[in-house]
Amino acid sequence: MSSDVRVIPVDELTSVEADLELEALAREIKDHDQRYYQDDAPLVTDAEYDALRRRNEAIEKRFPLSVRPDSPTNRVGAAPVSGFGKIKHAKPMLSLGNVFDEEELQDFIDSIRRFLKELSDNPDVPLEMVAEPKIDGLSISLRYEHGKLVQAATRGDGVEGEDVTANARHVTDIPLELPAGVPEVLEVRGEVYMAKKDFLALNERNEAQGGKVFANPRNAAAGSLRQLDSKITADRPLKFFAYAYGDVSTTSWDTHGAFIDLLKAWGFSVNPYTRVCNGIDEIMAHYDTIGEHRAELDYDIDGVVYKVNRLDWQDRLGFVSRAPRWAIAHKFPAEKAITILNDITIQVGRTGVLTPVAELEPITVGGVVVSRATLHNVDYIRDLDIRVGDHVEIQRAGDVIPQVLQVVDDGGHDDRDTYIFPTKCPVCDSHAIREEGEAATRCTGGLVCAAQAHERLKHFVSRNAFDIEGMGGKHVVAFFDDGLIKTPGDIFRLTPEMLKGREGWKDKSIDNLMAAINAKRTIEMPRFVFALGIQQVGQATARLLAKQYGSMAALRGAMDGARVIGSEQLEELLNIDGIGASMAKDIVEFFAEERNNAVLDDLLSNVTVEDFEAPDTDGSPVAGKTVVFTGTLETMSRGEAKAKAESLGAKVSGSVSKKTDYVVAGPGAGSKEKKARELGLTVLSEQEWVDLTS
Ligand code: IVH
Repeated sequence: MSSDVRVIPVDELTSVEADLELEALAREIKDHDQRYYQDDAPLVTDAEYDALRRRNEAIEKRFPLSVRPDSPTNRVGAAPVSGFGKIKHAKPMLSLGNVFDEEELQDFIDSIRRFLKELSDNPDVPLEMVAEPKIDGLSISLRYEHGKLVQAATRGDGVEGEDVTANARHVTDIPLELPAGVPEVLEVRGEVYMAKKDFLALNERNEAQGGKVFANPRNAAAGSLRQLDSKITADRPLKFFAYAYGDVSTTSWDTHGAFIDLLKAWGFSVNPYTRVCNGIDEIMAHYDTIGEHRAELDYDIDGVVYKVNRLDWQDRLGFVSRAPRWAIAHKFPAEKAITILNDITIQVGRTGVLTPVAELEPITVGGVVVSRATLHNVDYIRDLDIRVGDHVEIQRAGDVIPQVLQVVDDGGHDDRDTYIFPTKCPVCDSHAIREEGEAATRCTGGLVCAAQAHERLKHFVSRNAFDIEGMGGKHVVAFFDDGLIKTPGDIFRLTPEMLKGREGWKDKSIDNLMAAINAKRTIEMPRFVFALGIQQVGQATARLLAKQYGSMAALRGAMDGARVIGSEQLEELLNIDGIGASMAKDIVEFFAEERNNAVLDDLLSNVTVEDFEAPDTDGSPVAGKTVVFTGTLETMSRGEAKAKAESLGAKVSGSVSKKTDYVVAGPGAGSKEKKARELGLTVLSEQEWVDLTS
């Protein structure tokens, strides 16, 4: 089985793929609900069902405009979203990256060993990891001050959660008071869950009383914890496993394992399958052990989490976006099934990408009905020689999109046609072409293609872009189709009069929409750049551009200059770590295009884009400075040097120019150091750099 066929992480989905998957998920979850409620005999495990719902929620969160009227989120288990106070986490609550097999796990371990120079230099130095079950509940952060529970918050979006303090007091295993000697401030994090037997009993009781029947233990736990009436929570048997800490005033422990022991001593429940492992063999053995016991555990788990044991290493490894470099979740394997490919259809996305979609004979995979899956692109279909009528194997891994893995029986398909990828856009009939070196086939219709225009506008108002509340995807499409908005600037020219009399719009909702639009007449630069929908420019790249150039005027000026090959501006753009040649090309081309500039000028006359302010780096001496590392570093790997510099607000560049502030040169530094000296730049030794930054 090809291990590189992977379900798409939510943050890499295209909007078309998101729409498809949400459609499939809505149907699948509904199917399952029916089976669950009517037959009382679900075909899917609770954890699998739960994984689906979480995937659905994650996609909806990222593509709010794609939320369907029949979204499962609106039906079962939807706890009150308001009513609880909000709490900003003192330390963000992170998520975890995933691996699915031993090879990926080995890559993860290798990346840690590369990052920590003493480990890459000395392969014999052990790297201990703590392996523990991944509990399928909901994470919560408990804040103790002077040993007393003062606050409990759900994870929320990781930055801000809901205040569930009153309810947390009713959770078994959450101590209200801790023994003497605990740090003055101590945030303990872990998972609130409901035992399977308690879940079944609760449902039985509720059913008899005509109350709410929960789909799975996780929903039951979430629904129970997020009760505005804490008397109800008190009545529900919730439990808690502790596995991490957030804000703490002092740390007397120096490994995760030692912290787990302290948690036990302080009266918390920790999972009995928590083990310190040395090397991948021990890790895999423990993974297998946990997998073997999974069915008999009285709570749901969906994988195993591995964490670097040494905390000083954890600190140095730090984070990439929202996940630590020092921990990973090893998910339990995917479910597979075989079905017939009935048809291949095409969907057109925001940037004109034509995405082929497998229309499948509906099939149950791990208890969930799957009828559509993305086929990615023309190569994927050709390489697997997928033809309509084939029996294909599909896979649905834990919480991800169904994939066609391979053709298992082509039934002698040679007499059937190979799939011919369209050469015209199915929506606007413009030519669809595939540029050399690109996987995607694109509609060249640009502004004339209604599908692209719809998707571009949807993207513009979406959650991570302008985030215009109340302007859902269906409104954008309707406004566009009726000629109210053609370009983003038109949104800011909408008037109440234009909306009056439209179906579904009342005075109140019109007022709300106007207010939501007005609220976005000033916007942060990263959001604005992201909203433009430049090819390949996601949130992370938009942020990089904002950070590098600081203002829209500077960005546009620089991109204008960067059209000249060999220009300083192009070099500066290419020097941004995370921006490669192909991305740079898309960015420069976007700003070179006259029509885009017209749209941009129009937009900027309606919207104020705030200049980018670098996050507070506490008076760091290198904040805003550009640094180049060259030669061999003795005390840290390149990766660590770069991560550290960036955490202090510096920009790390790969090549030396007039704009470089510091060149850190180790032994073996060559042309870069020479160039730095010629330009009269500050050249530091590694030690001087360390002194400057610590
Ligand atoms: S550690 C920085 N350990 O998994 C590490 N998380 O996918 C933060 N989870 O939001 C989490 N069991 O809700 C950790 N033993 C465990 C876990 C665990 C379940 C959940 C947690 C987190 C999610 C990340």
